[in-house]
Amino acid sequence: MKLPPLMQRPDGQPVVTAEDRALCRAAWLQTFADHLYGPIPEAPERLDVRRERFGAGERLVIEVTLAGQAFAVDAALWLPEDRKGRVPIIIGLGFLGPIGAAEGAGFPIDNAAVIERSIADTLRGGRLAEANRGQHTDRWPIRSLLQAGYGVLLSCYGSWVADHPRKWRSAQLGRAARSCARTGAISLWAWAYQRLVDVACRLDEIDRDRVVLVGHSRLGKAALWAAANDERVHAALINNSGCAGASLTRHPGGETLSKLIRFSHWTVLDKKTAADPAQLPVDQHQLIACLAPRKVYIASASEDAWADPEGEYLALKAAAPFWATDSLPPLEAVWRPGRRVWSGQLGWHLRPGPHDMTSWDWRRFLAFLAQDGRDANANRR
Ligand code: GCU
Repeated sequence: MKLPPLMQRPDGQPVVTAEDRALCRAAWLQTFADHLYGPIPEAPERLDVRRERFGAGERLVIEVTLAGQAFAVDAALWLPEDRKGRVPIIIGLGFLGPIGAAEGAGFPIDNAAVIERSIADTLRGGRLAEANRGQHTDRWPIRSLLQAGYGVLLSCYGSWVADHPRKWRSAQLGRAARSCARTGAISLWAWAYQRLVDVACRLDEIDRDRVVLVGHSRLGKAALWAAANDERVHAALINNSGCAGASLTRHPGGETLSKLIRFSHWTVLDKKTAADPAQLPVDQHQLIACLAPRKVYIASASEDAWADPEGEYLALKAAAPFWATDSLPPLEAVWRPGRRVWSGQLGWHLRPGPHDMTSWDWRRFLAFLAQDGRDANANRR
């Protein structure tokens, strides 16, 4: 497997300085936009937030205007009650959004959100229903995150852009972005992540230097793409993100671009590139490297062959030289379910089990984030 070089500037010179890294980052982000994801639209002309109480948290009504078109999306905000000073924030898009999470009781159901049907068999034609309440509590263990000293901001991905090949352009962000450059839904979900960062950065309760993005599966792809493009993000937790996420496109195994292209609305991939990954001038280790020198955690699962967990580890390992001080052990040395590798700003683990994001993952995410001596709990005592 021959990967596009990491430590080489676009003009062929070796990468030595921070300026060299910045040159590479700009060139790679442009290439990913051109060939894979499409561009992330510009920031909105307006963004207003209204805060209302619900059950255990707050409902934020986020009103946005993009390309002259206004729309509104809900998000839930939970803050630790016993906080002293500003708290770090974990920002996520979820498949079911706040109603699927723990502590989501009382949050209004977004009847207009369109979720891909296979996400939960209780979805009625891709629409959220009462039956979806609390279905992803292990994926979003809000109370544990609050106890660890974090605020949590969570929104439903289908409230921003319909996850549907024919409907994705018909409402909300999908519709507003029609007059922007041609792009794919992963870029629009990345835009949604960036708006949640805008919102968090405006809240007096939040420490802007500790903004953490998290995403699972297709939303891991979007979170990685968003964080690579947005230096306000301090850490990214990328869970089981697979093809067009953290796993190497050129590594054989799991989903390939030729399979991924069936989600015709997700990317701007053309058939020729999808059929032959060597046509893509970049690979995912370069996207991960765009996060340097920030923190990145790639989480894999041992029974998640579709996401190619080996390709995920190899991408992180191949990206590590961009952090200068980080190098990771060879694959054979770490390949055991339950194993983790943490080195400086980089983290990885192999959860035993299938495709999912669980409290097992979260315990490690939180411990990893606490490692840099800026434990969120420091703000609470
Ligand atoms: C499908 C798709 C993956 C994606 C996953 C998900 O399996 O092929 O690319 O990551 O759905 O988002 O759940």
